[in-house]
Amino acid sequence: MRIVWATDIHLNFLRPHERANFFREIQDNTPDVVFITGDIAEAPSLRELLYEMQQAIDLPLYFVLGNHDFYHGSIEIVRRQIQAWCLTQSGLHYLSTSEPIQLSSKAVLIGHDGWGDGRLGKFQQSPVRLSDQELIRDFQGLDRTAIFAKLQALGDEAAAHLRELFTKGLDSYQQVFCLTHVPPFKEACWYQGKMGNDDWLPYFTCQAVGEVLLEVSQARPDCQVTVLCGHTHHAGRVQMLPNLSVLTGLADYGTPCISDVLEIS
Ligand SMILES: [Fe+2]
Ligand SMILES: [Fe+2]
Repeated sequence: MRIVWATDIHLNFLRPHERANFFREIQDNTPDVVFITGDIAEAPSLRELLYEMQQAIDLPLYFVLGNHDFYHGSIEIVRRQIQAWCLTQSGLHYLSTSEPIQLSSKAVLIGHDGWGDGRLGKFQQSPVRLSDQELIRDFQGLDRTAIFAKLQALGDEAAAHLRELFTKGLDSYQQVFCLTHVPPFKEACWYQGKMGNDDWLPYFTCQAVGEVLLEVSQARPDCQVTVLCGHTHHAGRVQMLPNLSVLTGLADYGTPCISDVLEIS
């Protein structure tokens, strides 16, 4: 099986012919399936652009959502709408609300959006303010304490989903692919070839998901866990354990690219 992976494609910033060119580039790599690790569009355009993409590539598309996908919407409502809508679309699979997906007799796919959960770095001292807090309804009108609590709750939700899937039936697989938008470790939070600093880490890492990944990977040394993520728009690869690797994908607004082409048997 051949997999094309891309992240942070931000299709809403592209003109129709630019989107068509990107979809053709995906097809030119002759994949069997496509993985997208979030920041696909924004809430009002998300379904339309996902549909356009899936129709154009005509392949199963497995995805999670990123923070931008909730802009001008609410996290819970967008997630619920995408979950319900994907049930009516044969080629579109939203992993945050999916059971594990068997890719081969040895490999399985899981995922969750994740969220920068505020725990790494120095949230209280950080001067960073993301547009999320103005453009996503869940954060509007919240003070810093309430934002911090919300970020942690979102991280915990992602971690709980992944923990449940890992404990519920991945024992027979030797390889697990886990898609998530937000890097789960500071070591995977690449920015211009370096790790993000304490001001950015709270928004660019999901510690709760990282803890689950370490725990389940340690419990299953015979199983290779490969995490694909994005959000920082800077690429890197880190080996957290002998059997746990994290790939963070490159991205640029207006010029989406393929992060990697993976082969599994
Ligand atoms: Fe992005
Ligand atoms: Fe993002």
